[in-house]
Amino acid sequence: MCGIVGYIGNKKAKPILINGLLRLEYRGYDSAGVATVEKNGITVVKSKGRVAALESVKAIDSLEGTIGIAHTRWATHGKPSDENSHPHTDGKKNFAVVHNGVIENYNELREFLGKNGYSFYSETDTEVIPNLIDYYYQKDSKDDDKKVLRAVISACSDLNGSFALEIISTFLPEKMIVVRKDSPLVIGRANGENYISSDIPAILSYTKDFYLLNDLEYVVLSRDKAEFYDKNLNVIKKDVVNIDWNASAAEKDGYADFMLKEIHEQPKSIRETIGSRLTSDGICSIESLELSKEYLSSLNKIYIVACGTAMHAGLATKPLFEKLCHIQTEVDIASEFRYRDPLIDEKTLVIFISQSGETADTIAALKLSKEKGAKTLAVSNVIGSSITREADYTVYTHAGPEIAVASTKAYTSQVVLMSILAIYFAEVLEINSDLIPDLKKAILKLPSQVEEVLKIDSMIKAFAKKVYTEKDIFFLGRGIDYAAAMESSLKLKEISYIHSDAYAAGELKHGSIALIEKGITVVSIMTDPALTPKTISNLQEVITRGAKTLVVTNQDLGDKVFDNVVKIPETISLISPVLSVVPLQLFAYHISKEKGLDVDKPRNLAKSVTVE
Ligand code: G6P
Repeated sequence: MCGIVGYIGNKKAKPILINGLLRLEYRGYDSAGVATVEKNGITVVKSKGRVAALESVKAIDSLEGTIGIAHTRWATHGKPSDENSHPHTDGKKNFAVVHNGVIENYNELREFLGKNGYSFYSETDTEVIPNLIDYYYQKDSKDDDKKVLRAVISACSDLNGSFALEIISTFLPEKMIVVRKDSPLVIGRANGENYISSDIPAILSYTKDFYLLNDLEYVVLSRDKAEFYDKNLNVIKKDVVNIDWNASAAEKDGYADFMLKEIHEQPKSIRETIGSRLTSDGICSIESLELSKEYLSSLNKIYIVACGTAMHAGLATKPLFEKLCHIQTEVDIASEFRYRDPLIDEKTLVIFISQSGETADTIAALKLSKEKGAKTLAVSNVIGSSITREADYTVYTHAGPEIAVASTKAYTSQVVLMSILAIYFAEVLEINSDLIPDLKKAILKLPSQVEEVLKIDSMIKAFAKKVYTEKDIFFLGRGIDYAAAMESSLKLKEISYIHSDAYAAGELKHGSIALIEKGITVVSIMTDPALTPKTISNLQEVITRGAKTLVVTNQDLGDKVFDNVVKIPETISLISPVLSVVPLQLFAYHISKEKGLDVDKPRNLAKSVTVE
């Protein structure tokens, strides 16, 4: 989705802005632009296409300013075009604005501004913003140093929807104003300069000190300071938060793609997730989480709510919560949950999983849960992200920045952290389970076992070479393996554009087997000894009908001979997705490479879906 970068300091802004935009490319976009404050006013340069296209626009060479804003746009209102790209200005170029989010009442505002003499050049919702700011600025008879800020506050009060904004103005040429509502924006603080971005990794090479903004906190940035105000111009005190991410973690480090790098980082990221939460002498603790036995015993339901891969991490760990904690656990897609008036109250704990912590539907579902009286727990990878600030409790996956759109290391870290959470809850509840000591040992082994799995790469690559031209590839599994099959299928469709679905193996006969014909590829996961014989039967049914198969298993399949078997290390089936999904991440990766596709930036997808 759209990305924002900004700079105010003593260096030339343009290279910093371009560098930031390049780091935001992974989010997915179709046009880009910059605006800087120059001696003779604001200069805007923008272009449809990639950042490289923007860099080739002649006018960009003349930008000398040390204050600037920049944007990558993912079209929502209006097609990708030069006109619709950001930054947007009012007709007199008094104000230039970049915007992430959606202004829901822009038609109304356009009409209102039209009646007041303003005209528009683009189809975007954003263009109303600089015009509305100018409208309020011109109306204000008081001429003091807060005049632009007052105009911004008045304009934002009229906006319905979500927005993260950077605003520069010829009326305030030495400053910049930024504000957010339901859309991410952070300020990176350095000596005599401020960096602004929608995403921490884009400016991580400049600073690790960040101001994290709450909704509708208005920030007036100058080179050496950041002043925070509420809508009534009261000063807000804000502390700097140190983000302990290694800047090189946001680089490819010699790997061909971020996705491949992130797949290979999983032993490390899982180790970080486990951290000191699980020790070799069996102690399980979760920092900053104080849930009493009394509270957990009062629960009659746990909901796990998320989108995409994060939702699959919920599906993979639901059985653990039910088995260990004896609490009914439901998993729901955030965009469904938020509109179906779910049955939740103070006896429900709702866990929200979100790598970015900025997914619009997940945030909305969280707000709804709070309104209904439930306690909320965020599981996120990004410190200070929106869901972590909304939720009653937060635990971090600590997987490090994930850049590739298709999520890999965030997923395995989510499954690991949710598993540790389930153990922690069971221990607080004082539920005796023979399984817990074994599970703890098994979780501690996962990082080195993932290292083992990564060594199987060449066999998977060879199989990918055989099937990369296929139109459909199906995935089968039962129980926990069905959850892993869903995630593996999603990975494949995201980056290979091959149609793929995952089926509960036992459900195959109720319809989907009609799709099986000679030559079709079926991938099956089998990690649960109790269910493996059943899945083998299903697999034989598809082989009989001409399917070729890839089997991922840690089981001894006895005298059953299958053509392509990926043997993964043994573990307790309940946490097996951490191992079984890894070869299938590689499978998706190799297919995408064989097809010559952009693995890190698949078409139409965004890393973080910050609008509905
Ligand atoms: C997008 C991404 C997925 C991700 C999902 C949820 O669809 O492309 O990779 O799983 O959003 O994102 P979140 O940041 O909430 O985990």
